Amino acid sequence: MQEEKIWLSSPHMGTEELKNVQEAFATNWVAPVGPFINQFEKNLSQYTQVKHAAVVQSGTAAIHIALRLLEVKTDDVVLCQSFTFIGSSNPITYQNAVPVFIDSEKETWNMCPEALETAIKYHLNKGKKPKAIIVVHLYGMPAKMKEIEAIAKRHEIPIIEDAAEALGSTIDGKACGSFGKFGILSFNGNKIITTSGGGALLSNDENAIAQARFLATQAKDIAPHYEHSTLGYNYRMSNISAAIGVGQLQVLEERIKARRANYNFYKELFNEVEGIEFLEEPQGFYSNRWLSCVLFNQAKNALLSSEPFRKHLGENNIESRPLWKPMHMQPLYKDALYFGGKVSENLFQKGLCLPSGSNLTSDEKERINKAIHSYLSQ
Ligand SMILES: Cc1ncc(COP(=O)(O)O)c(C=O)c1O
Repeated sequence: MQEEKIWLSSPHMGTEELKNVQEAFATNWVAPVGPFINQFEKNLSQYTQVKHAAVVQSGTAAIHIALRLLEVKTDDVVLCQSFTFIGSSNPITYQNAVPVFIDSEKETWNMCPEALETAIKYHLNKGKKPKAIIVVHLYGMPAKMKEIEAIAKRHEIPIIEDAAEALGSTIDGKACGSFGKFGILSFNGNKIITTSGGGALLSNDENAIAQARFLATQAKDIAPHYEHSTLGYNYRMSNISAAIGVGQLQVLEERIKARRANYNFYKELFNEVEGIEFLEEPQGFYSNRWLSCVLFNQAKNALLSSEPFRKHLGENNIESRPLWKPMHMQPLYKDALYFGGKVSENLFQKGLCLPSGSNLTSDEKERINKAIHSYLSQ
């Protein structure tokens, strides 16, 4: 009989979530309005030290609203990290704007400041100032925000910080999601905490967040009937999801601890293996280690290749995944402009995400250990 599947990153509930959901039912706040929504927003804002938060149905929706608030329109240029999940860039296309992709640097795997500056100058020379920069903190590792902020400030271009994977990550103690004009979070089922599906928009700008709530509820003007003078969306989070979120936020620190322990587990496991590389934290950077990832350096060790390795784990019913395929390599974005070199392409070709759930048991870790060793000793 095959053993149970070990997932890459599965939901991990605490003790309060179900109680909160039951309370929402008991009080009949079963709608995209209610006390848990208010509570979750307050708690998120407290945790990230960003003054205001609006919770919505997904991280993608939060980015879409951020672009609307920055008045990104048809043919506007938005600069976006190429090495990411497509939820970062699709909202640019929803706005009929033009996504322009930027390569990563090797230290954090996130947006390369030099390539960003080249892209900005290229567009300024054409008389087309980019409307926004979307920078991502991938796998929980913060991007080089100091350098990126300095460039953005110099050119007066607002930053949307995609912290979908980085709740709890910091640079010098400052939360990912708190650097840009807007920060966004995701609570999708695979994230460090989940509301089964959901997201949040963070900003210190009170008016912007009030406007975000307005846009997320079909932009209803004040009137006794339904009156609409601008385009809105049905994006607001439900009070049931927020009830789960309030419980999940209470166990976030434990979840981060467990994910960081997973990373150390893999570091130890591969300790003696030539050619395995990890994503280390630069000085002052703190990663929530949402997913533990490795790079296989075949030049150093011919045995190592990510696809056979992934298949071997799959045969043992252990899920693993290649790193994100960069957006400039996606068929959907084949015509998009791209600035940079081959860093993100290399990461995609050489990397693998390993099971990283905060609920991995010691028995499961032992199975992973055995499967990896059996591959390496072939
Ligand atoms: C980096 C990144 N950005 C954006 C998103 C979009 O979030 P959601 O799935 O909640 O729409 C995700 C994840 O799903 C993500 O990993």
